[in-house]
Amino acid sequence: MRALGLLCLAFFAPLTLLFAAEPANTATNLITISTAHTSLSFGVGPDGRLYHAGYGASEAAASLEKTPPREIEFYPPSGDGFILEPALQAIHSDGNTSTDLIFEKQTSTSVEPDVKVTRVELHDPFYPFFVTLCFKAYQEADVIEQWTEIRHDENRPVTLGRFASSALLAPKTPAYWLTQLHGDWADEAQWIEERLTPGIKVLDSKIGVRAHQFRTPSFLIALDQQAQEENGTVIGGSLEWSGSFQFAFEIDQKSRLRALCGINPFGSEYHLLPQQTFTTPGMLWTWSDRGKGQVSRNFHRWARRYGLRDGGKPRPVLLNNWEATGFNFDEARIVALFDGARVLGAETFLLDDGWFGNRHPRNDDKAGLGDWQVNTNKLPHGLSYLADEAKKRGVNFGIWLEPEMVNPASDLFEQHPEWAIGQKHREPILGRNQRVLDLSRPEVREFTWKVIQDTLTPNPGISYVKWDCNCYVTQPGSTWLGPNEQSHLLIDYQHSLYEIMGRFATNYPQVMSMLCSGGAGRLDYGALKYFHSFWPSDNTDPARRVFIQWGFSHFFPPSSMATHVTRMGDRPIKFTLDVAMSGALGLDLDVRKLTPQERKQIADAVALYKTEIRDLVTQGDLYRLESPYAGPRAALDLVSPDRSRAVLFIYQLKEGPNSPIRLQGLDRRKTYRLREVNLSPGETSNPGAQDRTVPGEFLSSDGLLVPLAGSYRSAVIQLTAE
Ligand code: GLA
Repeated sequence: MRALGLLCLAFFAPLTLLFAAEPANTATNLITISTAHTSLSFGVGPDGRLYHAGYGASEAAASLEKTPPREIEFYPPSGDGFILEPALQAIHSDGNTSTDLIFEKQTSTSVEPDVKVTRVELHDPFYPFFVTLCFKAYQEADVIEQWTEIRHDENRPVTLGRFASSALLAPKTPAYWLTQLHGDWADEAQWIEERLTPGIKVLDSKIGVRAHQFRTPSFLIALDQQAQEENGTVIGGSLEWSGSFQFAFEIDQKSRLRALCGINPFGSEYHLLPQQTFTTPGMLWTWSDRGKGQVSRNFHRWARRYGLRDGGKPRPVLLNNWEATGFNFDEARIVALFDGARVLGAETFLLDDGWFGNRHPRNDDKAGLGDWQVNTNKLPHGLSYLADEAKKRGVNFGIWLEPEMVNPASDLFEQHPEWAIGQKHREPILGRNQRVLDLSRPEVREFTWKVIQDTLTPNPGISYVKWDCNCYVTQPGSTWLGPNEQSHLLIDYQHSLYEIMGRFATNYPQVMSMLCSGGAGRLDYGALKYFHSFWPSDNTDPARRVFIQWGFSHFFPPSSMATHVTRMGDRPIKFTLDVAMSGALGLDLDVRKLTPQERKQIADAVALYKTEIRDLVTQGDLYRLESPYAGPRAALDLVSPDRSRAVLFIYQLKEGPNSPIRLQGLDRRKTYRLREVNLSPGETSNPGAQDRTVPGEFLSSDGLLVPLAGSYRSAVIQLTAE
């Protein structure tokens, strides 16, 4: 809790000075949060409460029912007449379990030309208990970010049992289809779509320090029909929170759907002190009547501008040693890999796990976490020496960290066993032989920050950090928090984590970073704003990566996905390269194990990527053309903002009939020159994609026939407007 109030104050103090109070629109009684093409409306009912009016296209007229039913209350509190799943549940200081929320005022201001913040203040008519609904409307991206601030002036703590970030009502329709990205370690982002039925469907996680192991805190709701790529109404939601989350989708007796989204209230009762503010994480919403493709492009545009570190900047081509060496390396082996990085054209070498720990050397995953001193046996000359050696070969140097964790076999744990999260009187449960450090404890926060400082400041040659998190919380107990605050642990942990990640991003602006959690175990816009990219999966078999990247592309832009070439799955190198080139290309290879022909093939692909493809990955609009779930192949294209250039990727996964692929996003009035690139040595260009010009209209309507014989064949085709 300690960090919580301070954080909110620091963030909002400058803004409040700019706000101007406004009543709800007096003609319609509506408050409207608008973006370029969408609006979310709600209004004050005759009873003073706030009611939902509509979410959809800007031009669609929204209106408030004369006597709105309680079921459509905009942010429903429990205990005073609302009978469905509530957004808010509070036990007041006198034990009263009900809250009522009455509209007081709204204020709004433009914080940037493209961004408007609206704050809608509500209060309980009896208790000095206040809720502010906050909205940040990103005009061009058509994204609305919603969060809630809760505070009170009662004379003792108020216990919060529920605290949704948002409780959106979907436009009413006969059918609602929910899509989630479900998964597991090495099998992330499985596409699951189902029709919702009356009652509550809950998607959640209860594992604390990373939002999920099994699902991403993002979803789609398609109205009327299953989500289509380029048509139909689809709402996208994504929670900015890396801890336990809950999405509760409730269809009520009148077939209305409400999505309650926020921190998982399970095990997280919060005792809020007077004058402190509980700020929920932001919930991102976007709405599209052009299918889920537009939902994705909205999220991507938003992320490039606001949701990622340096969102518009190209990501370096990395060469990571994890697949090549695991923990088994020494200085000579690493320096030899730098040469390999240079030969292949990688820009940054990323030294993965295993470089630290002396009394408890990190030679496997059983020891060393917490002891962040360079292992002097493996790396006698230290990290700066490695960074310099890399630099001599024209390669930058990066490093792996997992600063939130401790192995019981470590100096740190021997000195501070009380710093690990765990339950009194219970046998500690380890995950990957490690435990999570208790970031609610101030010394642990300082220690974690110092790990980062002591690694980066004396070694200014380090230009990249991969921040990992390989264990989650199954015993949420803290020796720091009091008996009454134990249920605060997982919330306080996240706030401390973000504070440290924020310090890292602010103090080391030149150091780029990757968010990793045993693959994509922590993947959400709460953490991503401090990172340049994320690690989608420890499974780098391109046959599986096609599906994983497909799923994540619904919410996260291609440039944020670290897509590496490895030998996992033993697929054709061309197929592996083609799959990796549609994201932030990287390599995880030991160049010495490659034949000269393979080296050349990879080096040529890296050079092509850097000069011809990377800018489209960084700035282009993504169109998913054929789903790997729907047929024997997958296809997507990336189109430059001015639509003068595009690149088409086709991945044949199984034998199957060939049909033309209709491209999207092109300028139909233009003619494009086609050129197949990244051909394997000796391979001739596909007859469908030989150097020729084709009208954009034809490519979009009739499509392009690119026959690929057999599974794990692929094609990359460049299009340039004449
Ligand atoms: C996790 C990551 C891997 C690698 C290992 C190192 O599993 O996902 O990429 O960094 O940790 O231990």
